[in-house]
Amino acid sequence: MRNPSADKSRRRVAAIFVAALCAVVAMFAGAPGLSTVAAQEATIWDGVYTEEQAERGMKVYEQECAACHLDDLMGDGIAPALVGSSFFFRWSDLSVGDMYAAIRTTMPQGAPASLSPAGYAEISAYMLQKNNVPAGDTELSSDMDDLEVITITDSQ
Ligand code: HEC
Repeated sequence: MRNPSADKSRRRVAAIFVAALCAVVAMFAGAPGLSTVAAQEATIWDGVYTEEQAERGMKVYEQECAACHLDDLMGDGIAPALVGSSFFFRWSDLSVGDMYAAIRTTMPQGAPASLSPAGYAEISAYMLQKNNVPAGDTELSSDMDDLEVITITDSQ
């Protein structure tokens, strides 16, 4: 004859085991960089924009940003410099997605989000170029999922 109380405790052990397994799986699934994401992670030094894209970005920048941040991106004293130590001080360890989102939601001052997503990506590419970050073969995307995995670091 089966012992119902032993049966019950076996079921309880099984339930606890399944719950623990779920927790472990959830932990791994939630941690970035463990599965497919790892392969996509990059820094700005991995050739994340193209020369052509930065070229287009320069034109948009001249029309939309240079009035305040000036042609050399050094800023006018009120609008900050977008190159050199101020660039890296502001953005190091953040992602290109953070930078893109900050620009898109606040700039041009007085008309935020007024450019196309591609336009903001082009300007971001131009800013990387002006910070001596080398171009590559792939254009910088305007998709946040792609931009969030590219980290800004001040050296390779
Ligand atoms: C009318 C003047 C003006 C124009 C045009 C303008 N900016 Fe700015 N920008 C500012 C000022 C002033 C600040 C500093 C205050 C602030 O962050 O809002 C600033 C700040 C910034 C910052 C720093 C934001 C941060 O979070 O640290 C970035 C990056 C930037 N601008 C990029 C751009 C880009 C790219 C364009 C063109 C699409 C642009 N700006 C157009 C005046 C301007």
